[in-house]
Amino acid sequence: MRATAIAQPNIALIKYWGKRDCDLNLPAVGSLSVTLGSIGTRTTVEFDATLNADRVYINEQEADSANRRVENCLDRFREKAGIAHKAIVTTANDFPTGAGLASSASGFAALVVAADRALELNLGADELVDLARISSGSAPRSLFGGFVLLENDSGGGTRCSSVLAPETWPWSIMIAVTSDAPKKVSSTDGMESSRTTSPYFSRWVETHDADLQAAVANIEKRDFEKLGELAERSCLKMHAVAMTSSPPLLYWSGATLECAQNIRELRKSGVSTFFSIDAGPQLKAFCLPENSEMVRESLESVPGVLRVISSKLGEGARIVE
Ligand code: PMV
Repeated sequence: MRATAIAQPNIALIKYWGKRDCDLNLPAVGSLSVTLGSIGTRTTVEFDATLNADRVYINEQEADSANRRVENCLDRFREKAGIAHKAIVTTANDFPTGAGLASSASGFAALVVAADRALELNLGADELVDLARISSGSAPRSLFGGFVLLENDSGGGTRCSSVLAPETWPWSIMIAVTSDAPKKVSSTDGMESSRTTSPYFSRWVETHDADLQAAVANIEKRDFEKLGELAERSCLKMHAVAMTSSPPLLYWSGATLECAQNIRELRKSGVSTFFSIDAGPQLKAFCLPENSEMVRESLESVPGVLRVISSKLGEGARIVE
């Protein structure tokens, strides 16, 4: 009743921000992401009839009530398996946790894959997508590799799939880390505040599908420049919605903005690259592998950048033990 899985974070090119159903954690909009290849979460789940409570260890620290989300996720697996056993979950990230690097996405993707194997449920991909999504809206995307589309379906749920395998169109991703501190407002709280208070939220939802479809078409055409334009705009639209919430949400630091200007300058000088920013102060730059050293050096020169993590595209969540 024990299994270990690895899952990698993903970064959305076309962002998800806002929910249409908080209980089922259904997103208001679809999203399109890339799964990273060089940083990850390793999670072991062991169900044990002798335990009287779930125990969750994140990066070697025992976690407290914040881990209701993990317990809720385990409850759904227990229900499917028809057992009451509690579990020990041990999870470790090799990157900063809770700082806009999608640790919840890789964490819950690894958890559902490991729990499924530990209980020998052999659930189908759609069921794993639903179980991952209920815990974290971006987690289903880490179940798949390469370029991944998460869409609302007509039946009131979501579906998720890889639109292009990682080796088909190799990319480099540079993450400029500007802070290791966890964010002050979680994405769940932030997006709910945006939904209820930002005057731009309804326009965000109305205009989102066109961005998503255009991005998928440009992946099919392998048009890096067009995709970059769409992705940078989707990121800035999301932050415009966040910034116009009440109270306003500003996830950037000064260094985040300096990095964004740096990437735009680099692009003006002829290097094909674009950026994205999530609910935290790190900036993610994307380029083709031939430009990766130039982009890395350029970001490293920005004051306030603590380090640059470089990654290629990666695979979906998988069992390792
Ligand atoms: O998975 P969550 O609920 O933490 O939300 C992720 C939201 C963003 O990272 C800001 C955007 C996205 O689509 O990944």
